Amino acid sequence: KQVSIVGVPMDLGQLRRGVDMGPSALRYAGLIEEIVRLGYQVKDAGDLVIEREATNPSEKGRLVNLNEVVSVNSELQEKVDRIHEDGVFPLILGGDHSVSIGSIAGIAKHYNNLGVIWYDAHPDLNTIETSPSGNIHGMPLAVNLGIGHPSLVNIGGYAPKIKPENLVIIGARSIDEGERELILEKGIKVYTMHEIDRLGMTTVMEETVEYLAEKTDGVHLSLDLDGVDPIYAPGVGTPVMGGITYRETHLALEMLAEANIITSADCVEINPILDNKNQTAEVATALISSLLGKKLL
Ligand code: ARG
Ligand code: MN
Ligand code: MN
Ligand code: MN
Repeated sequence: KQVSIVGVPMDLGQLRRGVDMGPSALRYAGLIEEIVRLGYQVKDAGDLVIEREATNPSEKGRLVNLNEVVSVNSELQEKVDRIHEDGVFPLILGGDHSVSIGSIAGIAKHYNNLGVIWYDAHPDLNTIETSPSGNIHGMPLAVNLGIGHPSLVNIGGYAPKIKPENLVIIGARSIDEGERELILEKGIKVYTMHEIDRLGMTTVMEETVEYLAEKTDGVHLSLDLDGVDPIYAPGVGTPVMGGITYRETHLALEMLAEANIITSADCVEINPILDNKNQTAEVATALISSLLGKKLL
């Protein structure tokens, strides 16, 4: 059992500073020690070095910080690719959610049918045309489906990374009009808060595992902490009320651990500046421990 950790202290996929401190907040919360305690051999590959342009990079057009986001994710793609080749479970610590472009690009090439679970208040299916903000952290899932700016879509030298039928979105409650159209057009499986309320998390996860297990050869979990209700995870840049509870999220990740289908993961959008005494990183640490097999008894 081996896990390799890569931190991506990057906040360029959106406009609020602070989410670049996510990796250190998670280290401070004891994530590495916790994974070691679970019996894994952990390699901490450290953090990528993020270069930012000094001259008002956000003003370069409709895609905020496009060049920087492309270069960080290209580097991340190579790192994650190498971790996968060594047969080790890659765990990527964001950073804003645009880092999932590089993490999934590094992983998907090793699978014929990579499944993705997108645990998030947002589907992150925007494109330049549909984005209300121009922020790339609202676009990574579209990019992974091969939809978006070519320099994002072609990171790693291939596209698309995933197929719409191999994707499950869980926790969505803030969906832009263009995202809604794409979900319906592609027939993407989405458990919004409505379905979570109606079915309960147990059924949602049983269905998710069954849906993915039969047609995928690996599953990446992308855990955006804003999927969890801001009562439990207040340190995020785009909080949305009415989210998934802490207990429901634990259950979801415990069920994924039991099903033994997750082959890589990222943990994104923690902003310690907006947090309450590092609570959100502590929540994330507890949740990742559940994903990696921690049990109460
Ligand atoms: N839908 C909004 C946008 O495109 C918010 C996206 C938030 N994404 C996130 N990963 N937190 O700007
Ligand atoms: Mn390779
Ligand atoms: Mn997200
Ligand atoms: Mn989100």
